[in-house]
Amino acid sequence: NAHKWLAPSSTDSRGPCPGLNTLANHGFLPRNGKNITVEMILDAIHQGFNVDPTSDVIRLAAKLGLLTTDNLAMSLEELALHGTLEHDVSLSRSDVFPDGSGDNIHFNETVFTTLAQANPGSDVYNVTSAAATMDKRLALDKIENPGLTNTVKEFFIRAVESSFYLSVMGDPIKGVAKKEFVQIFFREERLPIAEGWTRPTSLITTDLLGNLVGQIQESSHWSPSGEVVCPWIRLQP
Ligand code: HEM
Ligand code: MG
Repeated sequence: NAHKWLAPSSTDSRGPCPGLNTLANHGFLPRNGKNITVEMILDAIHQGFNVDPTSDVIRLAAKLGLLTTDNLAMSLEELALHGTLEHDVSLSRSDVFPDGSGDNIHFNETVFTTLAQANPGSDVYNVTSAAATMDKRLALDKIENPGLTNTVKEFFIRAVESSFYLSVMGDPIKGVAKKEFVQIFFREERLPIAEGWTRPTSLITTDLLGNLVGQIQESSHWSPSGEVVCPWIRLQP
């Protein structure tokens, strides 16, 4: 099976995105995680997750990925360039910290605790729990990293990423996903096919994602904080 899950080798490139790492671990993206083009990403997200390859948000994300490298194609690790797409207050990775001492690439179970323990008493995550998880991560991270960046830009990207795990691992219309599937996706960067997950049957469009992002943002009690008040984007390495 061409799309069997295989753990990456020590020379394969993996990065801060559990979605793209998963696609590489299943061979929807090159398993070495290198020389990845915008078209390869659009193809892979469609084949693997049934995300609309014509979606403007997805296309924007894929194109921004190219800013993280001086080459004309990206590696998964290069995507960790702080301030292009990578941001503080991730769900499953540490901040890089102002002195560069943090690991913003690899899965971190301590950071992931907040999402792992969210929505107690239920088997699923939903838009409300996703928003509460974002709020709690921010509160905890402010203690850990007082210099963190938290503008509307980071808030928007974080809400999009929450809409991603709810939709690709669950029901993209309702925004409800089984905890078990989401946790396997983050911890193992594997499609939980053996556990009963199937590729979403409806195309995950910008409209569906935007609807979930809106609900997540409405339910969150977010406000901006820190020294950096104006959103900015790093244009090159
Ligand atoms: C982060 C899923 C597409 C680049 C994330 C996160 C999730 C996710 C859930 C949050 C991780 C965390 O907070 O710990 C997905 C899914 C995708 C997808 C399911 C398929 C539709 C993309 C694309 C790009 C991208 C097209 C651009 C090339 C990133 C980067 C991060 C990230 C750089 C790190 C942000 C951070 O947490 O600091 N992704 N993603 N992703 N994604 Fe993706
Ligand atoms: Mg991050």
